[in-house]
Amino acid sequence: MRAVASAPGKIILFGEHAVVYHKPALAMAVNRRARVEVEETGGDQIFITLPDLDVEGVLGPGGELEFSGTGKVGILNYITQAVKLLPVPGGLKIRVKLEIPIGAGMGSSAAITVATLTALTQLRRESLDKTALASLAHQVELEVQGAASPMDTAVSTHGGLVYLHGQGEVENLELPGELPLVVAYTSYRGNTGELVAGVRHRRDLYPRVVDPILEAMEMVTQRARKALQEEDEEVLGDLLNINQGLLDALGVNTPELSRMVYLARSAGARGSKITGAGGGGSIIAYAPGKTQKVLKKLQEEEEAFPVGLSHQGVELED
Ligand code: MEV
Repeated sequence: MRAVASAPGKIILFGEHAVVYHKPALAMAVNRRARVEVEETGGDQIFITLPDLDVEGVLGPGGELEFSGTGKVGILNYITQAVKLLPVPGGLKIRVKLEIPIGAGMGSSAAITVATLTALTQLRRESLDKTALASLAHQVELEVQGAASPMDTAVSTHGGLVYLHGQGEVENLELPGELPLVVAYTSYRGNTGELVAGVRHRRDLYPRVVDPILEAMEMVTQRARKALQEEDEEVLGDLLNINQGLLDALGVNTPELSRMVYLARSAGARGSKITGAGGGGSIIAYAPGKTQKVLKKLQEEEEAFPVGLSHQGVELED
């Protein structure tokens, strides 16, 4: 028997870092997905291949993992952890197709985890509701990474535009129109754990300075929710730029990210900011009517591509 599931990657629009302090965040699922095919075999080993990343792994019956390839093999841990939580008797072949760049803060590991768990659930002839699935996928991320907010796995599971309330409640928001964005990323990835720890350190040193920044981020996210629903391009652009300034104030900006942010604005973006933890990784640019121009400009310097909202969360194929 064979099962195939796919799940979208995500970008954070507003609220990264503040979300660690129980402030709200807004994220959206994007039209780039991880597709995971799981097939039962007669043997007792689990063969995992991710051809897009040049990564392969074999999980033996005793739980020992051997890997090969030139890519980032750490991604295999999400799959083996998913198999540990939802075991299927006998051997398996797991093949992952990835349209989401890895290490760009676009939730590739969450998308792979959510799709793998969904395909395994199907092979086990079980079903999981989306809340239970998101929580299981979050558990996988926690076990592999040590720390993770529930945002990536929630967005990958539910799809669409997600408002994560400060206390962790996930709300799907309706968006009246499209939300065309450009993502640009540097090959250097910031270390999320270190960046989160850096913000904590500065907050410990200067609580009366940093707390109002986090509160301002909360206000930005709340106001952005309204602007998105009203399709107010001007306000949305302003809020993205304000959020960028606040992230810079928290100390997670870099000269490369800053350069891309201003390059996008000079090419006509209404707003642009870091997306994710910063310290490297990606920026997003919002350029209604000027997406191609901004894309071209960013591509002269870095990897860049357009993304749109995906209403489709995780889904079984076939
Ligand atoms: C990283 O993508 C987003 C952060 O807010 C950390 C987290 O939410 O786990 C920086």
